Amino acid sequence: MHTQVGIIGAGPAGLLLGHLLSLKGIDSVIVENRSRDYVIERVRAGVLEQGTVDLLIQMGVGERLQREGLRHQGLYISFAGQRHHIDLADLTGGKAITVYGQNEVVKDLIDARAATGRALHFEVGHVVVHDMESNRPKITFERDGREEQVTCDFIAGCDGFHGICRPSIPEHAIKFYEREHPFGWLGILAEAAPSSEELVYTCHQRGFALFSMRSPKITRLYFQVPPEEDIDNWSDGAIWDEMLKRMSTRDGWKPNIGPVVQKGVTPMRSFVAEPMRYGRLFLAGDSAHIVPPTGAKGLNLAATDVMVLASGLAEYYTRNSTRVLDDYSEICLRRVWKAQRFSWWMTQTLHRFPGETEFDYRRQLADLDYLTGSRAAMTSLAENYVGLPLDVALA
Ligand code: FAD
Ligand code: DHB
Repeated sequence: MHTQVGIIGAGPAGLLLGHLLSLKGIDSVIVENRSRDYVIERVRAGVLEQGTVDLLIQMGVGERLQREGLRHQGLYISFAGQRHHIDLADLTGGKAITVYGQNEVVKDLIDARAATGRALHFEVGHVVVHDMESNRPKITFERDGREEQVTCDFIAGCDGFHGICRPSIPEHAIKFYEREHPFGWLGILAEAAPSSEELVYTCHQRGFALFSMRSPKITRLYFQVPPEEDIDNWSDGAIWDEMLKRMSTRDGWKPNIGPVVQKGVTPMRSFVAEPMRYGRLFLAGDSAHIVPPTGAKGLNLAATDVMVLASGLAEYYTRNSTRVLDDYSEICLRRVWKAQRFSWWMTQTLHRFPGETEFDYRRQLADLDYLTGSRAAMTSLAENYVGLPLDVALA
């Protein structure tokens, strides 16, 4: 079998790329090692930047997003028992974010893929990439107990942080920049109506906490825990106790409590692979970079990567030009590093670090006091949070 672009991974990056290519008349085969249900049910990101929303609508997969997505024009930063509003739309000339679960985006994209009739294989095994340096790279994998191979013009490594594409690149051809963080996030989904219409990011003496949501009936909450925390150490009652301690404000605001329907702990990491390309293999999304979730950037970065990649591939097929493909890594990395910077800044502004003193905490509160009292500081947060523009014009 031959295809123009072999895509490994059916997360947001792989599915978005497949659909963008399909719209440009470029063929692809997507292989995914998990099941369809697993991919759809995996609870992860929830915040879409304005540019990601615009892209999904332009691609014709924004119908349910526009109906069910919750557009937020602002957010709250909470500390010392008080919430402070940041008006994202006012500070950015009308931009906003939309809360719509990553799993919903994935579901919409799988439906769109099915409607094109193009190949999307779930539950494949032993995926291996070959001959990336040649003009005919190849993917081999196992499907229904049989060995299959697909030759490609290009391969897109959209297989996330634990995928096989990045480790297939020879050591001398790639460099990694990495930072582990001394905490993770314990996250829950609860059947409780959100008690705030907008997200609340809290810095509390006991540590960071985040109030978010998925729908008018489902609340999504997180708090900072040690990185190796075992979720089994936390009963639902203990989780609610901790959430309420950290989130409740002096005006009486607190999250509504309800049955916990999903819970887990996610470690936190910052990681960048450079360059995001080896021969005819292009890395996109979490396979190339990870940001701590505080800035809500991961999924949005994946979307920008594949937008650039799809544009480069279209230019190759329509004009026989490799101009954008040649610059792919550089174009993406410039934005990736700015997202790293922002995510790191949000993380250190809102989390408590082990070994901090009372002095450090007072300084942190002063930082937050400055942030929420200065239009310049709030504007900086807002323009990063709604999403920075791509610095280049794409065809
Ligand atoms: P993935 O979603 O990881 O998809 C990769 C796919 O490849 C997976 O389906 C995987 O099964 C598959 N795969 C792996 N190995 C192979 C293989 N060998 N063969 C075939 N397939 C393979 N981002 C935001 O923008 N906003 C947020 O609010 C946000 N919150 C987050 C909260 C949490 C708790 C977590 C964990 C993440 C959050 N993120 C957020 C990050 C976001 O979820 C990721 O950045 C996003 O999933 C990246 O998409 P991706 O397609 O690159 O990778
Ligand atoms: C959500 C996740 C984030 O990482 C974030 O910064 C904001 C919201 C969420 O899952 O809703």
